[in-house]
Amino acid sequence: MILLDGRTTSEQIKKEITEKVEEIVRQGRKRPHLAAILVGDDGASQTYVNNKEKTCAQVGFKSTIVRMAENTTEERLLEEIRRFNEDSDVDGLIVQLPLPKHIDEQRVIEAIDPRKDVDGFHPVNVGKMVLGLPSYISATPDGIMELLERYKIETSGKHCVIIGRSNIVGRPLANLLSHKSIPGDCTVTICHSHTKNIKELTLQADIIVAALGRPGFLKGDMVKDGVVVIDVGITRVPADNKSGFRLAGDVLFEEVAPKASYITPVPGGVGLMTITSLLKNTLKASGI
Ligand code: GUN
Repeated sequence: MILLDGRTTSEQIKKEITEKVEEIVRQGRKRPHLAAILVGDDGASQTYVNNKEKTCAQVGFKSTIVRMAENTTEERLLEEIRRFNEDSDVDGLIVQLPLPKHIDEQRVIEAIDPRKDVDGFHPVNVGKMVLGLPSYISATPDGIMELLERYKIETSGKHCVIIGRSNIVGRPLANLLSHKSIPGDCTVTICHSHTKNIKELTLQADIIVAALGRPGFLKGDMVKDGVVVIDVGITRVPADNKSGFRLAGDVLFEEVAPKASYITPVPGGVGLMTITSLLKNTLKASGI
């Protein structure tokens, strides 16, 4: 069993990005610039945004973080987005999700200029991705594709079973893995809450992506020997430590790992790859 190590891989990608940034700065060009808007005081979102800010600094990007109060109106948020859309110094713009309930998330996503949509959530980018055209691919599916590529995992002709059909993981990943590409050329099955025979399907899978957000869902008796397992779950569960929680994956690691050829740990797997995908997209948005 080989661990798909998100920590080492993301550090390697950050190093590659840092070198590219140093090179363009040496040429007298401007640093890539990511702007992020955070509305409200959700603890996990604050951690994510702080982490994005820190990582931008690490690779030499400029970042601007705007923190807005929980009771910010949708109109006020849209105004802020327009301001960044028009600011030619800003290459990439993200609005951290989830947003407070009184704000229409889809309207906010569609207000971002697709050329600056480094989250890859805008329908223009999703549509281009589905068609296999150049686009910004959202962080989790891109991070998974990057891990498969860097570990040279054979995907062509393989049966990939994805558990979870979310707009940000399951469905885009199903698209990418079915494309005529490397990684890609998979036969893809998407399972969801109405799928009747998940175990029958996972037992046939060469590659399983668990992205449903249910800790320990994928058990040892649901997988065949030699399977490649990608665990996207990062549920916070109560724990007796300083933070009061730990991150739990969707895979029962101790049962599944002994049967797997490759498996991602949680934490230390897919989660760490997402920030590097955002950096890659921002670099691309800056024209590099
Ligand atoms: N919330 C959880 N993941 C993400 C992400 O990738 N982008 C944004 N904007 N919000 C998120």
